[in-house]
Amino acid sequence: MSNRRKTKITKSINIAVREILQGNIIALPTETVYGLAADATNEEAVLKIYETKRRPLFDPLIVHIRSIKEMKKYAEEIPAEVYKLAEKFSPGPITYILKKKKVIPDIVTAGLDTVAIRIPAHPMFQKILAKCKVPIAAPSANMFGRLSPTCAEDVYKELKGKLNYILDGGQCEFGIESTVISFIDDTIKILRPGFITKKEIQKVLKKKVILVRIKSRHSKNKLTIYSPGMMKTHYAPKTPLYITDNIYDFKEQSNVGLLDFSNYSSLNEVAINLFSDLRKLDEQGFAYIVASKVKDSGIGVAINDRLEKASKGRVKMGKWEIKFSIKK
Ligand code: TXA
Ligand code: MG
Repeated sequence: MSNRRKTKITKSINIAVREILQGNIIALPTETVYGLAADATNEEAVLKIYETKRRPLFDPLIVHIRSIKEMKKYAEEIPAEVYKLAEKFSPGPITYILKKKKVIPDIVTAGLDTVAIRIPAHPMFQKILAKCKVPIAAPSANMFGRLSPTCAEDVYKELKGKLNYILDGGQCEFGIESTVISFIDDTIKILRPGFITKKEIQKVLKKKVILVRIKSRHSKNKLTIYSPGMMKTHYAPKTPLYITDNIYDFKEQSNVGLLDFSNYSSLNEVAINLFSDLRKLDEQGFAYIVASKVKDSGIGVAINDRLEKASKGRVKMGKWEIKFSIKK
C-alpha cells in the first residue's frame, strides 16, 4: 500500500499548531522562504523532516524561536554582539550559530555542539510559535539540493503527498534564505550570505566579519567546513544551469531558457524572484538555462552565491563550456 497522502493547502493557524503539537511536519511561510517545520524538542518529528526532504543526517537544522529573550533557553555563552545584531535585525532574516544547550536534541544539530537560532518575522510563524510554546526546527521546504520554495504552490510541487498540510502565507517577502552568522570562535563569520549583508553587520558591530566562501579546487587554500550544509551544489533546478557573461548570446536558441533580470528595478527584486523564476524556466523543458551574475555587493553577494551553487560550477563562454569543480 502506498503511504502517500493527500496534501492540503490551508490558511488555518490552528491546524498548523495542532499538526506540530501532534508530532507531525508541516510546511509554513517565513519572510525568507517556506520552511518544513516540526517541534524541535520532539526527536521523532525532527527525523520526519530529514526523511521527507531526503536530507543527509549530517546537515543540521535551524531552530526558530519567538523572541530575543528566549535565546538563552537554547544557547549558552551568547556574546554581546549577538544581542546587538538581534536588536537591529531580529525578528528577521538572520540566523545565529551559538553554543547549544542540552534541551535541543542532537538530531536537530546533527550531533554538533552548536545550534542555529533564528527569530522569524512572518506574522503566521510568530503566531504559531506563540501558540505552540516550543522551538520549531525548519529547513527550507524543498527536496534536498533543490530550489527553495517561495510560495505555497511551489512547496506543493516539491512535497505533495509527503505531508498533510501546507500553510499558505502568500509570497515570501525576501525570497532568499537568511544570513547565517557564526559566533563560535574569535572571528565572527558569515557562513551563508543573505539579505542582511556583511556591510550592515559590520556597521552595527563596528568590527570586521569574515564572509566564508566556497573555493574552487584550484585554490591553494583548503577551506574549513564551518557549516555542514555549505555544499558545493545546492538550490539546483533539474535543467542544467550555466553561468555566462551575456545571456542574450543565446536568444536565438529556442531550446535555451534565459534567466533574465533586466525587468527588475533592483537587486532586492531579483532576490525575491530568483527561485520562482528559475522554477518556472525549469518547468519548460529547455535543454539548459543560462544566467549572468549580478554586481557582487550588498544583496548581490547572496544572489551570486545561490547562482553559483545552482549552476554546480557550469560556465559557458561563447562556444566554450567549462565545468569548474567546486570543492566543498
Ligand atoms: O531563511 C532560512 O534560513 C530558511 C527559513 C525556513 O528559516 N531556512 C533555511 O534552512 O534555509 P536550511 O536548513 O535550508 O539551511 C540552514 C543552513 C544549512 O546550510 C545548515 O548546514 C546551516 O544552516 N546550519 C544549521 N545549523 C548549523 C550549525 N550548528 N552550524 C553551522 N551551520 C549550521
Ligand atoms: Mg535549504
